[in-house]
Amino acid sequence: MRLPACIKMVEVGPRDGLQNEALPVPVAVKVALIDRLTAAGLKAIESGSFVSPKWVPQMAATAEVMAAITRKPGVSYPVLTPNMQGLEAALAVKVDEVAVFAAASETFSRKNINCSIAESLDRFVPVVDRARAEGLRVRGYVSCVLGCPYEGVITPAAVVEVAGRLARMGCYEVSLGDTVGVGTPAQAQAMIEAVAARLPVEMLAAHFHDTYGQALANLLAVMQKGVAVLDSSVAGLGGCPYAKGAAGNVASEDVLYMLNGLGLETGVDLDRLIEAGTFISTTLNRPTGSKVARARSEQSR
Ligand code: HMG
Ligand code: MG
Repeated sequence: MRLPACIKMVEVGPRDGLQNEALPVPVAVKVALIDRLTAAGLKAIESGSFVSPKWVPQMAATAEVMAAITRKPGVSYPVLTPNMQGLEAALAVKVDEVAVFAAASETFSRKNINCSIAESLDRFVPVVDRARAEGLRVRGYVSCVLGCPYEGVITPAAVVEVAGRLARMGCYEVSLGDTVGVGTPAQAQAMIEAVAARLPVEMLAAHFHDTYGQALANLLAVMQKGVAVLDSSVAGLGGCPYAKGAAGNVASEDVLYMLNGLGLETGVDLDRLIEAGTFISTTLNRPTGSKVARARSEQSR
């Protein structure tokens, strides 16, 4: 099996995971989680969003979170910024990386960010320009790459179009999101092949939610096509507030267990990652979404 030699894990639990929590999660808990994820050796930890608090109340305290975490040199702590207002707020707390987020589905775009795909991309151009001028790296997301909760089937051509625009406007990495977690491996490979025909595969990240239990299989499938950046969420936290019924991202612990088994280097420590997942699951008073963490905890009884 041909696989990339080195994998970058992008932890999105503190953002994608916690954005979907019904009850407020205190700033101190978010900070403790992010600091534990840093201690586990992750090099990219998405830590919050500067979005409208009316749309996503759970992310309202991102500025306080960013001010309180301990930032380790060499680790990036990106935040989502859908517009200039969000970018200004991110700059005020001296973030090192931001992300803009578009969709391959017109209906999802409207539900998620209240504008069309074309409007969103036009809106991102000055955001990306300004962020880059300030020395920040900018990541771009495309949602609904393997299906949409409102429109159903999404073609690879629609994904290619949006991913291409994000790359051309200056995003260094484009994360391809199976927002609803409906995709299967051959479909995921076909989507990556279509995007990689236009953009270097090194620029692409896979961001798979695990609603239908396909995420690990889909990750392995796209790694075979050269994708070396994998998004995941500790304890499998989360879902998207604008994709009803969508489960969290694939659990980071499960991804790392697979990568370790494949002999791929990540720099992340499984025991410390499980510890971070146990911390947040216990604090939120729910079972972990990680099978690896569950198995380890059963074995230690
Ligand atoms: P809008 O209502 O069209 O915005 O929302 P607006 O510019 O007309 O402003 C309306 C109000 O929002 C104003 O306040 C603004 O100040 C405020 P008011 O005068 O009414 O009191 N506002 C803001 N406040 C704070 N920060 C901001 C901001 N912008 C405006 N940046 C908007 C448009 C994009 C703001 C809104 O739709 C929004 O915030 N959406 C966020 C949706 C979101 O965060 N979704 C989850 C993340 S995406 C995701 O999970 C998918 C992903 O994981 C990949 C995948 O899985 O596929 C990334
Ligand atoms: Mg997501």
